[in-house]
Amino acid sequence: MSKAPLWVGLLWLGACGDSVDEPIEHDTHDHDDHDHDTTSDWMTTGEPVTTPEVPAGSTPWVWDLPEGFPPPVVPVDNPMTVEKVELGRHLFYDPQLSGNGTQSCADCHHQDKAFTDALAVSEGSTGEFGTRSSMALGNVAYHTTLTWANPVLVRLEEQILVPVFGEFPVELGVAGSEDEVLQRFVDDPLYAPLFADAFPEVGDDERVTWDQVIDSLACFVRSMVSWNTPYDDLAYRGELALNPAEIRGMDLFFSERLECHHCHGGPLFSGSFVTSNSAHIEQPFFNTGLYDIDGEGSYPPDNVGLYGFTGEAGDMGAFRPPSLRNVGLTAPYMHDGSIETLEEVVEAYARGGRLVSDGPYAGDGRDNPYKSPFVAGFEITEGEKADLVAFLRGALTDPVLLEDPQWSDPFAGPAP
Ligand code: HEC
Ligand code: HEC
Repeated sequence: MSKAPLWVGLLWLGACGDSVDEPIEHDTHDHDDHDHDTTSDWMTTGEPVTTPEVPAGSTPWVWDLPEGFPPPVVPVDNPMTVEKVELGRHLFYDPQLSGNGTQSCADCHHQDKAFTDALAVSEGSTGEFGTRSSMALGNVAYHTTLTWANPVLVRLEEQILVPVFGEFPVELGVAGSEDEVLQRFVDDPLYAPLFADAFPEVGDDERVTWDQVIDSLACFVRSMVSWNTPYDDLAYRGELALNPAEIRGMDLFFSERLECHHCHGGPLFSGSFVTSNSAHIEQPFFNTGLYDIDGEGSYPPDNVGLYGFTGEAGDMGAFRPPSLRNVGLTAPYMHDGSIETLEEVVEAYARGGRLVSDGPYAGDGRDNPYKSPFVAGFEITEGEKADLVAFLRGALTDPVLLEDPQWSDPFAGPAP
């Protein structure tokens, strides 16, 4: 993938620049120098962590993090408060937030599936299917870019506009019904105290605005930190919480033979990571040889990856490496949900690219000219494959994220 100074420029001018006190150095490229996920590589710059001030009458949010671990970046104009997170939680689970009142964020982001939806591609409120697979939401605030292939979407406040108002595809489908949807929250007696508590700094007649809705949703999603996997116990708490198969799988994951860590490095296992005290961030996008439809590197026309954004040939099929945290729960896999199991994902990498043998997208991804050199193929035994999957499934699953009541459905009735 080529460098694109344009995006770097956009990032500097865009919202990210004003969300931190110190300028962050952005670098968009596909070669990751970090060999291992070591806390020293990623965690410390020595800069003090800054926390935006909360308005009088609000309760500052307290992050649940391993000792010494930096919180995510919080924009100065949307400080984290307990009250906004609670309002955002209600909005996240409320189908009143869709144009036709039938769908909420949670319909595509289920807590028990690490906030994915088990579908290959998501279905919006009007029944229209999109082209992309829903993404896990734990630790989303630490990502350097948001969604599968967009280098300029870096703030949750902006990303959330997409499912709410977007029309290609329609997700919540609010475009055209903006006033009507907002009026539902004005009319619902549940929300008056929630908005009053979340925005004590404004008058009663200035409440229930779209900015407040989006800011609260962003606070809720930003609050979903997830550092309670067995891997985290080992890496950040010094406790040996992995079984022998998982340890063997971890060694394979970080081996030069398999190369996984070159793209899925760092605390998120995604190659990208930004915190409130990062000095330098990476924004990786790679082509993994999932398709080669015409023998010249083409991906399906509705899902061309970064190329759709930059129009540069070298960006064809380049996607952001997804975080592998909770990956045991986020099937089916890849940007279009086109791989069912983790075993099949590993087989595609071992082959050096996926073979699609029939259908409109038939082709051998191994020959894709835009494929990353890190997807070169490797030998792997059945036992090693089982160990690698045991690591991905067992060591990277955070049981707290999946059940914590602070991120659960406030409208759910008592268990039957
Ligand atoms: C119709 C299903 C659907 C709905 C409804 C939906 N999402 Fe998503 N979400 C997705 C899909 C699909 C993606 C990946 C989008 C892409 O790459 O273009 C995504 C991506 C995201 C991401 C980016 C995650 C990352 O790692 O970069 C966030 C954050 C998010 N959604 C939050 C929300 C919130 C908040 C709402 C409610 C306002 C919501 N979503 C509603 C399907 C949905
Ligand atoms: C060249 C960089 C690169 C390498 C090397 C790499 N990955 Fe990936 N990985 C990606 C990208 C990019 C995606 C998303 C691709 C897409 O959707 O088109 C991905 C997707 C995945 C997924 C699907 C996750 C999901 O939520 O859909 C899994 C699982 C995965 N990789 C595991 C591995 C393992 C295990 C290895 C080592 C054998 C590995 N990766 C090596 C970049 C890489």
